[in-house]
Amino acid sequence: MPKEKFITSIDIGSTKISSAVAAVTDNKVSIIGVSGSVPSKGISKGNVVDIDAAVESISSSLERAERMAGVSISSALVTINGTHIETQNSHGVVAVSHQGSEISTEDVIRVTEAAQAVSIPSSREIIHVIPRDFMVDSQAGIKDPIGMSGVRLEVETNIIHGSSTAMKNLIKCVSQVGIQVDDLVYIGIASAESVLTDTEKELGTVLVDIGGGTTSIVAFLEGSPIYSRVLPIGARYITNDLAIGLRTRLEDAEKIKIKLSNEKQEMFIQTAVLTNGDRKKMEEFDVSEFGLESDTVHKKLLYEIIDARLNEIFRLIVLEINKANLQGKLPAGLVVTGGGALTAGVEKVAKAVMKMPVRVGFPRGVTGLIDEIQGPAYSATVGAVLYGVGKMKSNTMLNFDTGRGKMNSVFSKIIEKLKSFLP
Ligand SMILES: Nc1ncnc2c1ncn2[C@@H]1O[C@H](COP(=O)(O)OP(=O)(O)OP(=O)(O)O)[C@@H](O)[C@H]1O
Ligand SMILES: [Mg+2]
Repeated sequence: MPKEKFITSIDIGSTKISSAVAAVTDNKVSIIGVSGSVPSKGISKGNVVDIDAAVESISSSLERAERMAGVSISSALVTINGTHIETQNSHGVVAVSHQGSEISTEDVIRVTEAAQAVSIPSSREIIHVIPRDFMVDSQAGIKDPIGMSGVRLEVETNIIHGSSTAMKNLIKCVSQVGIQVDDLVYIGIASAESVLTDTEKELGTVLVDIGGGTTSIVAFLEGSPIYSRVLPIGARYITNDLAIGLRTRLEDAEKIKIKLSNEKQEMFIQTAVLTNGDRKKMEEFDVSEFGLESDTVHKKLLYEIIDARLNEIFRLIVLEINKANLQGKLPAGLVVTGGGALTAGVEKVAKAVMKMPVRVGFPRGVTGLIDEIQGPAYSATVGAVLYGVGKMKSNTMLNFDTGRGKMNSVFSKIIEKLKSFLP
């Protein structure tokens, strides 16, 4: 029987912390423990702003997942988010060490290290180094050069980096709970693992995770990430707008927003057989349970408020796509995930603004206790588990430690960053 290993992920969001524990065998990733949504405290727009409060929320999320899984957790993959996250594409070139012979893993590491020789300020640290494309003696389009013959090896990489302070604070919080951080995963990369198909990544697509406080973007082209960006705006803004527009409390505005998104399907039911009275009823939205000035609100008003904010979010995404020079290069369109992807009318507004195909992305690729984590708000939680599985598998595949002695620390650091992305 294949040996079972455990992988835990913690998604530290601005509105909720969610953890998942997975039992991993050769061909199955089974979720055995989940925390559900623990309200997050001490986190704002993806960043830790109060260590004690954040530690408390992370701790209760992990406790729940641990209890359900019935295993003791000592380490976890942790998502990282925030406007400090930036991306950069860079090129590296080296001579193959033993000319005439095969390209080795060390050559791949050296060339990727060369690509990292870009000026990144000392206040920042690399989160991911993703080899996008290798070239051997000017022949491009090579995904795995190990074992090929050649003299000159080049690589195009996508580097994702972030503020060292933000990372240190995040790691500090998780360490205080007694958990070692296996790796930090940018939320866009994590969500992409569970939501995007290989075809979408290959054709060109932009994944957008709309959370409570942030909108995290990652664009894929030819199978790999090419651009990432985090906007300091999320679905909580929609709630705020509704609270102001309806003159109600935030808690009630949030409930009204969710009630509307749960009900949106009804709008399309049998409109042909409706009487005028029915139509009138459909235009009104029942808010009697929330103690507003009147018992109903025009749906038109609700959609005007929601659409205005969604419009703004998607316009900002268009600007990012233009900034990355990706206009017209993303035929697989936009995939929206995160809790905000459930907002009523999200696909309609996204299509109108982005002028590309749009779908809502749900997390996939795991079995087991999936009931609690099947919504788009859990894409990053599930994706971080899958990212860890990829890392675990490539560790075995590459076998860096056998017969070659210990790598020096710079090398082992790069290897760590690289492993999960190598073919
Ligand atoms: N059914 C729903 N309909 C409309 N909005 C929803 C629904 N469910 C969740 N949301 C919204 O999604 C947001 C939370 O999303 P999510 O859980 O992805 O955020 P987060 O990960 O905590 O935040 P972030 O990623 O910004 O740090 C909230 O603003 C919430 O109102
Ligand atoms: Mg999130």
